Amino acid sequence: MNNPESTIPYRFEKSRALYERATHSIAGGVNSGIRKLEQPVPLYFESGSGSRLRDVDGNEYIDFQIGQGAILFGHAPQGQAEAIAKQARLGIHWAAQSELEIDVAERLQKMIPTAELVRFNNSATEVVGAALRVARAHTGRSLVLRFEGHYHGWGDEGLVGFANPPDKWGTEEDPARIHPSQGIIDEVRDHFVVVPWNNPELLKRAVEKHKGQLAAIIFEPVLCNTGCMEPVEGLLPLIRELCDRDGIVMIADETITGFRFGAAGAQGYYGITPDLTILGKAIGGGVPFAALVGRRPFFEKIINGQVVHAGTLNGNPLCLAASKWSLDTVIAQGAQHPKSIQALGCKLMSGLRALADEHGIPLRPQGPGLVFHTVMLRPGVDEGLVTSYRDLVRRHDGLRWAHLRRMLLEHGVRAIERGLWFISLAHTESDIDEALQRARPAFAAHARDYQPVA
Ligand SMILES: Cc1ncc(COP(=O)(O)O)c(C=O)c1O
Repeated sequence: MNNPESTIPYRFEKSRALYERATHSIAGGVNSGIRKLEQPVPLYFESGSGSRLRDVDGNEYIDFQIGQGAILFGHAPQGQAEAIAKQARLGIHWAAQSELEIDVAERLQKMIPTAELVRFNNSATEVVGAALRVARAHTGRSLVLRFEGHYHGWGDEGLVGFANPPDKWGTEEDPARIHPSQGIIDEVRDHFVVVPWNNPELLKRAVEKHKGQLAAIIFEPVLCNTGCMEPVEGLLPLIRELCDRDGIVMIADETITGFRFGAAGAQGYYGITPDLTILGKAIGGGVPFAALVGRRPFFEKIINGQVVHAGTLNGNPLCLAASKWSLDTVIAQGAQHPKSIQALGCKLMSGLRALADEHGIPLRPQGPGLVFHTVMLRPGVDEGLVTSYRDLVRRHDGLRWAHLRRMLLEHGVRAIERGLWFISLAHTESDIDEALQRARPAFAAHARDYQPVA
């Protein structure tokens, strides 16, 4: 048996007690299903500042979970707190117009060349729904092509083929259209074509097979929700070409990559021009804010009312104030963004790899540094980069990673349960050095205590 209790310096009594209390009033004790995965217990936090986070037991973490990537600016940045507080004194919600919303929209136009027009929502899940509706209305078609393992929010449509279980996942040529949730209208699945990530041949074949039927191709430019996998050379231009050839709407889901990969997001970083883009997370720096941005013709049906787009809290002034501050902070970084945080991420990746090698742990950090995943190789598998969802399932040892992740947590380094790490603009070189120092005994404890589950 794994017995990490014998070595840990951190204790979680108050979190455990609060979680127990929460289960009597909050369904399952948490307000988003994945938070339940946190081991040893879903943590309760008290405060944070910059790269640091403090829980109710007084444990302090160098945080690389960073609000699931949303707080690109770190915890509680003073300027953002002041912008929100100032707005709160003027008005919290109007369900009407304000100059602030034009300020934010104009910033987006300046930062993202394909953002000719914008519409705001409160979550990326909502924006995914809006983007698919716009694409279907624009093309008069209903089928949407998406990639296995990509996550597009928790709505009915965002999850088809997201995490197909291996015993039901079908062939590589024709992945199953399985939905991980019960309670879905069966027909939703029929409106999707699922294709493996990073396989240009199978993508071409699927588009050819459904010629004249596809409304949209939707994708994360870098797959960050199952592992962290950059697109293979030529894949993103191929998506553009296939969309142009068959009148398909190209939808980039930049919920994670937006602003993190530079002011123009992954589309600037990789030099692609999607028709529509979904922005979430960093656009609000931690408040509920998201946007659909894109080329003018795709907004015509929203403009003339043929496509309904609405929301009581859309363009909420508190969120706009937070977003304006966030976007200004990205703009102020100038040419050093994303290079500076990328350098920190790469340093952390190579430091983790060195520690893994030192302790004989098969950990392989993978990704562009701005975000990365720590693949824990199963015994005897190939060493090369993981390139697709199935490849990850086959080669990543999730149970072993979970043990190391817990050791790291208990030594004050917080990564996301599934193995993803985000760097923020608040992280510094000395945070990375200190994280690696803290990681050393965690790796040693893992190497000493981990017992593979039979
Ligand atoms: C790529 C992607 N799209 C959409 C979403 C949904 O965003 P939200 O949780 O804000 O609805 C997420 C959330 O993690 C995401 O990573």
